[in-house]
Amino acid sequence: MRELNINLKNTSYKIIIEDGLLNNISKYIKEVYKNKKIFILTDDNVEKLYLNTVISSLKNDFDVDYVVIPHGEESKCLSTYAYVCEELIKKDIRRNHLLLALGGGVIGDLTGFVAATLYRGIPYIGIPTSLLSQMDSSIGGKTGIDFYNRKNILGAFKQPSMVLIDPKTLDTLDEREFNNGMGELIKHGAIGNKNLLMSLLNKPKINEDIIYESLTVKKAVVEIDEFDLKERMTLNFGHTFGHAIELKYGYKHGEAVAIGMLMAIKMGVDLGVTDNECYGVIKNILELYNLPTVEYNYKDYLTDVFYDKKNIAGTINFIFIPKLGEWTIYKITEAEIKEKLL
Ligand SMILES: NC(=O)c1ccc[n+]([C@@H]2O[C@H](COP(=O)([O-])OP(=O)(O)OC[C@H]3O[C@@H](n4cnc5c(N)ncnc54)[C@H](O)[C@@H]3O)[C@@H](O)[C@H]2O)c1
Ligand SMILES: [Zn+2]
Repeated sequence: MRELNINLKNTSYKIIIEDGLLNNISKYIKEVYKNKKIFILTDDNVEKLYLNTVISSLKNDFDVDYVVIPHGEESKCLSTYAYVCEELIKKDIRRNHLLLALGGGVIGDLTGFVAATLYRGIPYIGIPTSLLSQMDSSIGGKTGIDFYNRKNILGAFKQPSMVLIDPKTLDTLDEREFNNGMGELIKHGAIGNKNLLMSLLNKPKINEDIIYESLTVKKAVVEIDEFDLKERMTLNFGHTFGHAIELKYGYKHGEAVAIGMLMAIKMGVDLGVTDNECYGVIKNILELYNLPTVEYNYKDYLTDVFYDKKNIAGTINFIFIPKLGEWTIYKITEAEIKEKLL
């Protein structure tokens, strides 16, 4: 078992990482929740695999009900949000009841947004089941849904009361989803934890310790920048170019981040910011996890990128890694891009 605390200005919460935790969640929930009623939100895939286990482990201590939605990103939308709220209201949810988000990042983001808005805020606990949600999206309090073809455009910051991670659930994840999560996990190593990164060269089984190490990287930036105003943007390493190719070529997000990291490393090397050795090491690790390492020339994307939302007053903040396990925020203007790179 590993434990981590997220300490923010106005709140703090515990993350428990434990194999087999799903069979034993009541004791942790009782630490932070004193009422009886619990509503679980899950998707139809996770329902089949884990809902009964979770209900069984809660039912001696709590009165449990649930709402199931279809799996997939399409469910992170206004109509599913409305459906969930309606079901919860019909089931007579009160503002001092608890929501449990049982599933991947989609369930986490949607449940968090319901928790942020219903009755202007009710408590929720995350039980992330995909690799991406365990090592990334379940902490930090960013919640929301997609709208008007824009991802995460409606949302709120709402921290969970606790996060309960059972790495055993990763055994049922299909390989592409698993590798998708690895894209972001490798990114955490690249920007903030060299030991974690280098350990991946042996392709270890993803266990409590690796999830813990990956979360420490996110914890560090979330604690200094809860509302995503500065340091938290370092989590976007690989995302500037990643976003540009994700939709164009139909990659999954973590796959696009894999390619985007390599593009950002090339650019960093050209600017003299990034150490040459970074490219080979990260490429090797990405290949071990069957992530794409196709070379796209970053220069072909600089113009697109410049007009992306990150363009603040004529400059772009690029995230580079000077060395393995270190990040830096590098401000660059359009004129400099033309002079130094094109
Ligand atoms: N809030 C944040 O900080 C943050 C950060 C990164 C990503 N996200 C969001 O997270 C979402 C992606 O998360 P995701 O990759 O977990 O997607 P997801 O929730 O769609 O899960 C991926 C698939 O795996 C299935 N699944 C989940 N757990 C499983 C298990 N243990 N066994 C078998 N199947 C399982 C799901 O049913 C789904 O089909 C995106 O919407 C993204 O915007 C949020
Ligand atoms: Zn990402």
